[in-house]
Formats: sequence, C-alpha cells, structure tokens
Amino acid sequence: MRDRIDPLADYATALSGPIPDYLLRLERQTYLKTIAPQMMCGPVQGRLLALLSRLVRPTRVLEIGTFTGYATLCLAEGLAPNGRIETIEGDPEIAARAARNFAGSPFGDRIDLLRGDAYDLLPTLPGLYDLIFLDGDKRGYPRYLPVLVERLRPGGLLIADNVLWDGKAGRNTTDPTAANLQTYNQLAAAHPQLSALILPIRDGLSICRKN
Ligand SMILES: C[S@@+](CC[C@H](N)C(=O)[O-])C[C@H]1O[C@@H](n2cnc3c(N)ncnc32)[C@H](O)[C@@H]1O
Repeated sequence: MRDRIDPLADYATALSGPIPDYLLRLERQTYLKTIAPQMMCGPVQGRLLALLSRLVRPTRVLEIGTFTGYATLCLAEGLAPNGRIETIEGDPEIAARAARNFAGSPFGDRIDLLRGDAYDLLPTLPGLYDLIFLDGDKRGYPRYLPVLVERLRPGGLLIADNVLWDGKAGRNTTDPTAANLQTYNQLAAAHPQLSALILPIRDGLSICRKN
C-alpha cells in the first residue's frame, strides 16, 4: 500500500530503526519539494533494504530509478569497504536533487549517479553486480528481468519494488502497468536461475536470489 493512513504501518515505522539523521532530512525534503513523494521507498522498506545489503555486503550495487536517493542511501549502509553503488535516474531535475542528497550523506564518494534512460545505459555498464534494485520504469520490468539476471552474480539478489501495484497485480486487471508487473512476477517465479519471494509489504517487494 502506498501512503494510506495505516496504523499498523505507523506502528512498524515507529519501532523500526535507528534511521540516520541524513535520511530523516532527505525524507522531509522529498515531501516538501517533490510532487510525488510516495515514490520514495520509505522508512520500513528502507530498513529492509539496509538489512539485506548488510547481509550481502555487496561490492557492486545497481539501482534503476534513483528518485531522491532514499533507497540508494539505505543500500549504501551495507556496502563492503571498497563497495560502490551505480544508480540510474532518467529525470534530470530529480537527479540534481539526488546528487545534493548524496553529497550531504556519508556515502557521497561511493555513489555513481548515472543520468539517462536505464535500458540504454545498462549495456554500457560492464561486469556483474552483487545486488540489483529495480525501481524505475515499472511497465518495462518484464524486459529488464532477463538482462538483469545475466548481470547478477550467482548468490546475488535482484530486488524489485511495487510488484503488487496497489494490489491490482494480485487480481484480474485491465491496468496495463499491473499486467506488466504480473508478467514480471510470473517470469521471476518460473526463472530456472532464480528463487523468488514476494513480500506483500507496502506496494509489494519482490526479492529473488540467483542460484
Ligand atoms: C519509484 S521512483 C524510485 C524511488 C527510489 N528508488 C526510492 O526508493 O527512493 C522511480 C524513479 O525512476 C525514474 N525512472 C523511470 N523510468 C526510468 C528509466 N527508463 N530510466 C531511468 N530512470 C527512470 C523516475 O524518474 C523516478 O525518479
């Protein structure tokens, strides 16, 4: 669910943390200065991303869809000592805001913010990733899946956000985005190299491990 009044979500948020000050500031600024702040993954999902990253200890992370950088900075918490994050944002105005947020965090020099269309930029990025977070271009998820599985090292995680699309992906739907997300979820579940899990938190988070 995205930004509805939800006492259980408030309870979970209040008792999940600690959340670093720079993230609290980033969250507040995103609500004050952007027109769609609900795109930000938010505190509970952010803590989950930070936890998963701390468990994987990635050397290389790829994020598709930076927005204001909330999830990027959560993922950065688990980086290996020499680890780096490449994050791709297609909207130049939003990318400029993310760049300022990264500069005001402890991870500014470990994040490469790439500006442009993710699908065009992907082939220009060489090598394998330990963790990939897919969170942009929702209707394009099915075409990203095979490309991203190829770019993930064995044992790595492919995490994708919004895979339930306000619950519509779980039922018969005429919504084209929900239909594409259904396709993504089916492809992930049937992929011979993936073990798939969908967590029905917030707008639905898919977590796949490459075997
Ligand atoms: C849901 S927001 C990302 C939220 C962010 N990961 C977070 O949790 O705070 C999606 C972002 O993806 C960007 N985006 C959408 N399609 C894209 C594409 N094809 N290439 C690059 N960025 C894209 C949008 O401009 C938007 O900022």
